[in-house]
Amino acid sequence: MRTQVAIIGGGPSGLLLGQLLHGAGIDTVVLERQSKAHVLSRIRAGILETGTVALMHQAGVGQRLEKECFRHDGTVICHGEMQFGVNFFERAGKHVVVYGQTELTRDLYGARELANAKTLFNIENVAIYGADTDTPSVSYEQDGLSHTIKCDFIAGCDGFHGVSRKTIPAQLRREYEKLYPFGWLGVLSETPPVHDELIYAGSDRGFALCSMRNANLSRYYIQCSLTDKPEDWSDTAFWEELKRRIPSEYADKLMTGVSIEKSIAPLRSFVSEPMRWGRLFLCGDAAHIVPPTGAKGLNSAMGDVHYLFNGFRQLYEGGDSRGIDEYSAKALARVWKAERFSWATTKLLHRFPDDSEFDRKMQQADVAFLAENSAAQTVFAENYVGLPY
Ligand code: FAD
Ligand code: PHB
Repeated sequence: MRTQVAIIGGGPSGLLLGQLLHGAGIDTVVLERQSKAHVLSRIRAGILETGTVALMHQAGVGQRLEKECFRHDGTVICHGEMQFGVNFFERAGKHVVVYGQTELTRDLYGARELANAKTLFNIENVAIYGADTDTPSVSYEQDGLSHTIKCDFIAGCDGFHGVSRKTIPAQLRREYEKLYPFGWLGVLSETPPVHDELIYAGSDRGFALCSMRNANLSRYYIQCSLTDKPEDWSDTAFWEELKRRIPSEYADKLMTGVSIEKSIAPLRSFVSEPMRWGRLFLCGDAAHIVPPTGAKGLNSAMGDVHYLFNGFRQLYEGGDSRGIDEYSAKALARVWKAERFSWATTKLLHRFPDDSEFDRKMQQADVAFLAENSAAQTVFAENYVGLPY
């Protein structure tokens, strides 16, 4: 088999890149390790920047999103009973939207099928060859048979645990990592959201987030221990703990229900540099991870897609390689700022087990400053709605 760009990973970055390339007449094959049903069952991001929405439109897959998303002009931030709002639209002139990663992925699979673009599911043992030569290829196994795809370029969109990043020789790669001493326990429930905006809550018992997917589907998270398992938390224990961490105004009206999904995600900051090796380009979680506190993971992945797509288009349309030559540096410049915001917001609102009394006072002063200072709120809003590409 031969294609122009072999895309490893059928998550949001691989699918959006594939759709944009298809629109520009560039041929792709997407190789996904899991089944489509498995990819669509993963409950992950919920907040999209307007830049991400614009990319979906550019790829011709924005119609359902436009109809079904919920515009959010601001968010609530709390510490204990203290709470304040940050208005993104007033401060940064932009909003964000609520639209689940699952829905975005579903739209992209639908468009890929309509376009008759090739997606291979349930494939195993993907390996990349000759990325540093002019004749790269990707091998894989499906139903016990081995296959090879020859290509011009490889896009490594296979997430944090994929093979693409590890194909770059260790001596050419520099990895930066910070592990946090806690995770997030997330619950999805068919109940109306407690508030019409998201609530990011710090408290003496730890962080909590009240988010949503639609008028009758809520997504809530609480900071938990890294040793906790989802089955350690009954629904009742989860709701009780959530209520203790948010202001009583919200706790009193919180509608609880049966959880339809419950999972734990560890928190990590991670960047691998550079994002290119020869004809292999890393994109999204394959190259970088953020803790979810600033809703930057999916949106940063989409930022990479923007730069990489434009680089490929310039090359295939006009023979100009500047875009792909600058890809790694441009993508990383934006990624590091998202890393900073996600790390700072995590530090602002979580309870760190080793924090001293002094550290706690500093955290409270940080929250108080954000509550009172309009310049600080502008900085928060500009980062939350997404820095320009
Ligand atoms: P992935 O979604 O990880 O996709 C990679 C794909 O590659 C997967 O389908 C995988 O099966 C496949 N794959 C892996 N290895 C191989 C292989 N060897 N061969 C073939 N295929 C392979 N981000 C936000 O912006 N906003 C949020 O609100 C937000 N909330 C989050 C909440 C949680 C609980 C979590 C866990 C994450 C959240 N994120 C959020 C982050 C966001 O989900 C990720 O950044 C996003 O999924 C990255 O997309 P991706 O396509 O780069 O990687
Ligand atoms: C979510 O709805 O899953 C979500 C929203 C905001 C975040 C993280 C996750 O910061």
